[in-house]
Amino acid sequence: MLWIKAFHIIAVTCWFAGIFYLPRLFVYHAMADDDTSKERFIIMERKLLRGIMNPSAIAAVLFGSILMWMNWATYQGQGWLHAKLTLVILLIAYHLMCRKIWLNFSRGENRHSHVYYRWFNEFPVLLLVGIVILVVVRPF
Ligand code: HEM
Repeated sequence: MLWIKAFHIIAVTCWFAGIFYLPRLFVYHAMADDDTSKERFIIMERKLLRGIMNPSAIAAVLFGSILMWMNWATYQGQGWLHAKLTLVILLIAYHLMCRKIWLNFSRGENRHSHVYYRWFNEFPVLLLVGIVILVVVRPF
């Protein structure tokens, strides 16, 4: 169980590294006005999304689900886990939004300014704080 939890936390850390970095790239990408820079950002964003964020998201959910399954009798009635999974669903939605934004950039169809992406970049901080407090403190 502890090995699974260790890999769960490693995967979650890698996932958040990408979740915090990709929108930052969107900020500078939205400010770029020469084609060379725009092409370079598209490649960097694609590598981050496909090389780090997607695999670590899958690993975090897989190891978390194994942990849940191994102890379901205990977890099923615990409010903190239900609240945590609700925030995790928001995190997965945020991840998919990032993928859609990258697709728009790669087609030259970006719709937002760098100011929008600066605010967009802050949202996962709230999710991280909420998830970690729920799983460690278990307030309910
Ligand atoms: C579907 C996704 C997820 C599931 C099913 C899941 C489930 C679990 C379960 C069952 C545990 C073991 C709790 C225990 O010690 O009894 C756990 C631990 C943990 N999870 Fe997740 N988790 C998921 C996603 C995440 C995410 C996105 C984060 C991001 C911060 C996260 C952070 C943690 C941490 C820090 C622990 C260790 C808590 C401790 O040892 O006290 N999990 N998770």
